[in-house]
Amino acid sequence: MQPVRIAVIGVGSMGSTHANALAQGKIQRATLSAVCDTDSNRFSQWPQIPGFTNPHDLLRAKIADAVVIATPHVDHPVSGRLALEAGLHVLVEKPIAVHKADAQKLLAAHTNPQQVFAIMFNQRTDPFYRKIRELVQTGELGAIQRIQWTITTWYRCNAYYRSGTWRATWRGEGGGVLLNQCPHNLDLFQWMFGMPARVRAFCRLGRYHPIEVEDDVTAYMEYANGATATFITSTGEAPGTNRLEVAADHGRLVYENDKLAFQRTEMPVSQFTQTATSMFAAPQTTTTEFTFQDHGGQHNEILQNFVDAILDGKPLIAPASEGIKSLELGNAMLLSAMENRTVELPLDAAAYQRLLEDLIRKSTK
Ligand SMILES: NC(=O)c1ccc[n+]([C@@H]2O[C@H](COP(=O)([O-])OP(=O)(O)OC[C@H]3O[C@@H](n4cnc5c(N)ncnc54)[C@H](O)[C@@H]3O)[C@@H](O)[C@H]2O)c1
Repeated sequence: MQPVRIAVIGVGSMGSTHANALAQGKIQRATLSAVCDTDSNRFSQWPQIPGFTNPHDLLRAKIADAVVIATPHVDHPVSGRLALEAGLHVLVEKPIAVHKADAQKLLAAHTNPQQVFAIMFNQRTDPFYRKIRELVQTGELGAIQRIQWTITTWYRCNAYYRSGTWRATWRGEGGGVLLNQCPHNLDLFQWMFGMPARVRAFCRLGRYHPIEVEDDVTAYMEYANGATATFITSTGEAPGTNRLEVAADHGRLVYENDKLAFQRTEMPVSQFTQTATSMFAAPQTTTTEFTFQDHGGQHNEILQNFVDAILDGKPLIAPASEGIKSLELGNAMLLSAMENRTVELPLDAAAYQRLLEDLIRKSTK
């Protein structure tokens, strides 16, 4: 079987890591066949590999079976559509696009089921999140009452924001922490717990940095079954916190500092509430701790899974079609904050696009 010839489009910070993984043989049954970047200075790292300064020339050269797209987010739907229409398999970096309507257009271009279309949600390989998902999906946790996720371990200084003109602008990135860092967490959130029915969020623009987009977010969400959730994130707090707590009918789950603990109640809380006879009784609990040696294969595991899906039909860890959900959450949080109202899901894609276009029009960046 021939190895999959993969071209990487956008070989900046993230794309060069993907290109190196391929060039250094870290991905089985795959080779780096080309690199593509609008900045040809980037090509010197791979002197033996053909370099292209635009994706059209790359696709015309027919030296790739698949592409990995690691350009700035606004380009993902553009390069993604080109590659899909040329019949290539595509692995796109997160987020799939900067607004829902663009993501829908990209997904509509994926008409051939033989073409593998995946998204780089590398944190789905993390065994802690996999375990939480399993505990939810198997019913071990029982009905969820409340989810609280504080994820402020995304601290960034001003030099980070200065490192690319596209960063932290409405035009270049479509948002801040919700579009750059948090697509991972918003994806994990919906992957573990499903999509909420409505969102109310408060986003502060440039609270900690001289940027026009949000770097501080507090969101409240409600599920159709009455469960509630809070999601808090920021790039301005150090040291940050990553604490995920789930209160459910069978007890409480807490993930923090590389420890996952499940305190299981002796009987479902709802049953105890109805049957206990003593005035201040509360259910007894037994604790199970889950520990894992590492945080999974991350980017290379997603790359390998992409290749295995192409060659063997292996199921994708992160199909691109699921990339729209985290984007929808991020867009809904921004719409809610900007319009000072609760936003019902599914999100009105056109309403969000109008808001973003308005923000871009008024931007001075
Ligand atoms: N999965 C992860 O953990 C992870 C981590 C970092 C970044 N990312 C994602 O990767 C993408 C790139 O981020 P980065 O930090 O590497 O940015 P970067 O600015 O370092 O790199 C982007 C590269 O794309 C090139 N480029 C821009 N427009 C292009 C186009 N139309 N065609 C070809 N090349 C083009 C730029 O010249 C640059 O070299 C973003 O979408 C980001 O969200 C993902």
